[in-house]
Amino acid sequence: MVSTGTAAKSAVFAQAPAGSDLLEVPCAQRNGILEMMAMRRDPFAFGDERLARLGQVSGLNALGVKMVIAAGPRAADEILMNRDKAFANGPAWSYFIGPFFNRGIMLLDFDEHRHHRHILQQAFTPSALKGYMQEMQPMIAERVADLPTGNVKMFEQFKSLTLDVALEVFLGLELPKDQADKINKAFIDTVRAGVAYVRKPVPGGRWWKGLRGRKVLEEFFYDNIAAKRARETPDLFSVLCHVEGDEGERFTDEDVVNHMIFVLMAAHDTSTITMTQMAYRMAKSPEWQQRAREQSLELNPELGYDDLGKLSVLDLVLKESLRMCPPVPAQPRMAVKDTSVQGFFVPKGSMVTVPQMTNHRDPEFFTNPDMFDPERFTPERKEDKGHRMAWTPFGGGVHKCIGLYFGQMEIKTILHHLLRNYEWSVPEGYQIPMDYSALPVPKDKLPVDLRRR
Ligand code: HEM
Repeated sequence: MVSTGTAAKSAVFAQAPAGSDLLEVPCAQRNGILEMMAMRRDPFAFGDERLARLGQVSGLNALGVKMVIAAGPRAADEILMNRDKAFANGPAWSYFIGPFFNRGIMLLDFDEHRHHRHILQQAFTPSALKGYMQEMQPMIAERVADLPTGNVKMFEQFKSLTLDVALEVFLGLELPKDQADKINKAFIDTVRAGVAYVRKPVPGGRWWKGLRGRKVLEEFFYDNIAAKRARETPDLFSVLCHVEGDEGERFTDEDVVNHMIFVLMAAHDTSTITMTQMAYRMAKSPEWQQRAREQSLELNPELGYDDLGKLSVLDLVLKESLRMCPPVPAQPRMAVKDTSVQGFFVPKGSMVTVPQMTNHRDPEFFTNPDMFDPERFTPERKEDKGHRMAWTPFGGGVHKCIGLYFGQMEIKTILHHLLRNYEWSVPEGYQIPMDYSALPVPKDKLPVDLRRR
C-alpha cells in the first residue's frame, strides 16, 4: 500500500515544527460527523475511498477529536510496537469504552500495564488452558447436542453458549437462567454504549444503558468476591483473587472486579463474532464445511488440548474468517507526545487508529483479498507472513490479545462438536448483512438451516 492520495490542506492538524521534514497529515474536507457515519455504514468502502483519495495516513475531525487513520502493516508496526512510548491505550480506548470498562487491562499503560499483565498472564499459561479445556469440554458437548434444528439464528446460539462457557470457566459459577440473561444483557449494553452518538446519560439512550449495565456487573462481582477469596477453585475469578506478584502483592477487590468485567467482555463478543463468521463462510462454501467435518470425524468426540493442532482445516477457516472480518476492526491509540507515523507529523493529543479491516485486504500481501480463500494461510502460501503486521486480528505489541489461545481453543471445540453433529446451509445468494456500528455483528443474527446429521 503506498501513499498516493492527494493531500488536502488540513485545518485539523498542526504543521510539523519548523525545520522538520515531516509531512502534514492530509484531511478529508467534509464534515467529520459525515465521515464517522460513512465509516460505520461501510468501513470497507470508507477505508478504500480514503486510501484512494488521501493515501495511507489521513486525518479527520471526529466530533472534536483529531483522528489519524494509519493504514498498512508498516504503520501498524510503528504504532503497536510503540518503541518510543509515544502512543497510549488508556486515553484512546477510554474515549470509547472508558466509563464501562474502567481500568480494564487494555486501558492501562506502560509500567502499570506491565505489572497487571504479568499477574494476569498467570491465568493463561498452557497448564491453566489445559484445565479450562477440561472444564469446558463436557459442557460444550452437551450444549451443542441440544441445539435446536431448522431455521436457527447462529449468532444468538453462539452468544449464549460463549457466555455460559465464560461463566463456568472464568467464574466457576452455574447461574440460573434469569441471572445469566441479566448478565448477558448487561454486557450487551456496556459494549454497545461505547459507540453512542449521544455521549451523555439520557434515560433510555445507549450511554445510560451502558452505565446501568456496568453497575449490574459490578454488583454481581462484588457479591461473589468474598467466597472466591475464601476458597481456591480452578477458574479465572479465583486465580485473580489469589495470584501474587513477584513481591507478594495481590490484586485489590477493585482490580479483580475491573479485570473480570473487562476479560469477560473481551472474551465474549470476539469469540461469538468469529464463530458466526466461520459458520457463515462454511455455509457459503460447503466444500470447506465438509473438509473440516472429515477431520473432526477422525478425532474422538471429546477433544483433548493436544488434538487442537490436528484440526488444520478448521484452523485455515478460522484464520481466513478473522482476516475477512476481524472482530476488533481497528485499534485506537492516543499520541501522548508529538510524534510521527510513516513520515507524517502526528501532534500530541491525536487519536491514531490502526485499521485492521483495511490492512487485512491489502493487495500487497493478500491475493484477491475479497475472496474467501483459506488456503492462503497454508505453509506453501503463508500470505499472512509477508509482514509481521499483515494479519493481526489479535493486535500486536504489548497489548496483544492475552486470550488468543483461549479464544481459539474455545472456538475450535465448539465448531468441532457442531461439525460432527450437524450440517448447515444458507439460501443461494445469501449475503450476511453486517452492522458495523460497534463490533461487527450480523443484523439478521445469521439464520441458517441447521440439520442433525
Ligand atoms: C477470536 C477472539 C478474539 C479476538 C479477535 C481478540 C482480539 C483482541 C485484540 C485485537 C486485542 C488488542 C486491542 C488493542 O491492542 O488495542 C485484544 C486484547 C485483549 N484480549 Fe482479545 N480477542 C479475542 C479473544 C479473547 C479472549 C477469549 C480473551 C480472554 C479470555 C481476550 C482477552 C483480551 C485481553 C485481556 C486483552 C487486553 C490485553 C492487554 O491490553 O494487555 N480476548 N484482543
